[in-house]
Amino acid sequence: MKLFFAFFLVKVVEPSIRDPGMPDHSVAAAIAALEAHRVDISHHRIADFFASDPTRFARYQVQLPGFLFDYSKHRASDVTLGHLMSLARAAQIEDRRAALFAGEAVNNTEDRAALHMALRNFGPAMSAKGEPVASLVQRERAKLYDFARAIRSGAIKGATGERFAHIVNIGIGGSDLGPAMAARALSPFAQDGLSAHFVSNVDGADLADTVRGLDLSRTLFIISSKTFTTQETMANAQSARALVARTLGEEAVRDHFAAVSTKLDLVAQFGIAPERVFAMWDWVGGRYSMWSSIGLALAIFIGPDHFEEFLHGGFDIDRHFEEAPLDANIPVLMGLLGVWYRNIWGYGSQAVIPYDQRLARFPAYLQQLDMESNGKSVRRDGSPVTLATAPVIWGEAGTNGQHAFFQMLHQGTDIVPVDFIVAAEPTSADAHHHELLFANCLAQSEALMQGRTQSDVEQMLCAQGLPAAEVARLAPHKTFPGNRPSSTLIYTSLTPRNLGRLVALYEHKVFVQSVLWDINAFDQWGVELGKELCNGLLPKVTDSHSVLDGMNGSTAGLIGWRRALKS
Ligand code: F6P
Repeated sequence: MKLFFAFFLVKVVEPSIRDPGMPDHSVAAAIAALEAHRVDISHHRIADFFASDPTRFARYQVQLPGFLFDYSKHRASDVTLGHLMSLARAAQIEDRRAALFAGEAVNNTEDRAALHMALRNFGPAMSAKGEPVASLVQRERAKLYDFARAIRSGAIKGATGERFAHIVNIGIGGSDLGPAMAARALSPFAQDGLSAHFVSNVDGADLADTVRGLDLSRTLFIISSKTFTTQETMANAQSARALVARTLGEEAVRDHFAAVSTKLDLVAQFGIAPERVFAMWDWVGGRYSMWSSIGLALAIFIGPDHFEEFLHGGFDIDRHFEEAPLDANIPVLMGLLGVWYRNIWGYGSQAVIPYDQRLARFPAYLQQLDMESNGKSVRRDGSPVTLATAPVIWGEAGTNGQHAFFQMLHQGTDIVPVDFIVAAEPTSADAHHHELLFANCLAQSEALMQGRTQSDVEQMLCAQGLPAAEVARLAPHKTFPGNRPSSTLIYTSLTPRNLGRLVALYEHKVFVQSVLWDINAFDQWGVELGKELCNGLLPKVTDSHSVLDGMNGSTAGLIGWRRALKS
């Protein structure tokens, strides 16, 4: 079946939009070679690779200052890596990376650059589609830092003359997930007396539950929306505005709101003072925007110095991604291993398990980054993809996940590659707790890899004195197949710089995979249809007399049932 698939790939991959010197059949050939290699390697166990090569851990890792990526617990040998490198070269990773960093319009359906790296660039100036961006970025960042410092010091106060204590970011998707994840991750670096909150869902419960208990006279709302038209954000922003006007008076709106957007005219219409409006640009994609002014809530919360460290972490990884050879390049290796499992082994999901409670929102953040970027079915030229794209990304903080879905990871019928993420030292927590946490993390990757054979289980049960019939009955249930792959990312501690590194690593991994699949990682047309249909449905939902004829039976039936209930 797999060999047939390889043949199929070689046959169908005809149209070429890659550069002429390296046509698609090179990619197809590299995939076919991997398919054939899978058959060979499927007889080997990961644990045996370690047994036969004491240097495996030393050879299957990449270290950066304060960071180590261990990819030794994979179903991969030197031969596998050789084939994966051939795939990377066939897909012209280096040329496409150069185009990304050169600010070319890599987002070809919107004719935009994807230059989030310019937001954390401390090297030579960068340009988006030939337009220099460094001075724009620096000017906006200086304005953001000035504002953040003034809020933190109390130089800027609320309408009643009180110092701000609560920052509420209103945004969704890329205008929420990144800053919300990072604020939680970096809470030990926050200024005493400041709290950060994030409202995203159009469900009124989100805003209501967030503002309950907040002193509005000490609350600053930041409306974060690249387009300033997103339904959820606008609804929440209007409700927050009404709340402030009702509680503190209309005049207070000027003092209690700030905004981040590319649409400065729409922000002005909302009534936000120009000096509190922070710009971003169309060459910053929403899910890549936490480095921009979209990070305002974070910058206020942790302070400009820590925010700057976070940017430096991203820059560290940009340099690594640009300069490290492909076989020692963490995003390249992460991307290739992902494709190895997704396309050659057919695994449909990838778990990300941070053994770090403060990274609890990291899997949710990655879901948007990865699946909104690479959940595509057509290639850059609009032709159908020839390889399956984005796996389902999911996860939860360890050790909590161990008591929920790890049963499935260890003994389920689907194999799910795992990224374990863990700090060597706690940022601010009890040292013994951290030792427990760390040991749990290593134990899980070890258990996934080693497994436990049925004969080992039988021996153990016999040694416990169980009768033979009981041993035979229980042994299959207590057997672990093992040989299940994982990577481990370990960093010194969860500092702003290390968080910046972590985020940028995944950003570039997503880009690498988009190149391997030849898709555009920077558009998101798939979210549009639902938005359009919602706009069409809203009048049917709000007007209980509107006719439902001509609608889909299920949708009309559900609206009708709700109407009946309300009447
Ligand atoms: O979900 C679609 C999307 O456009 C995301 O790409 C984006 O991050 C989010 O909505 C929010 O968009 P905006 O910042 O324009 O409100």
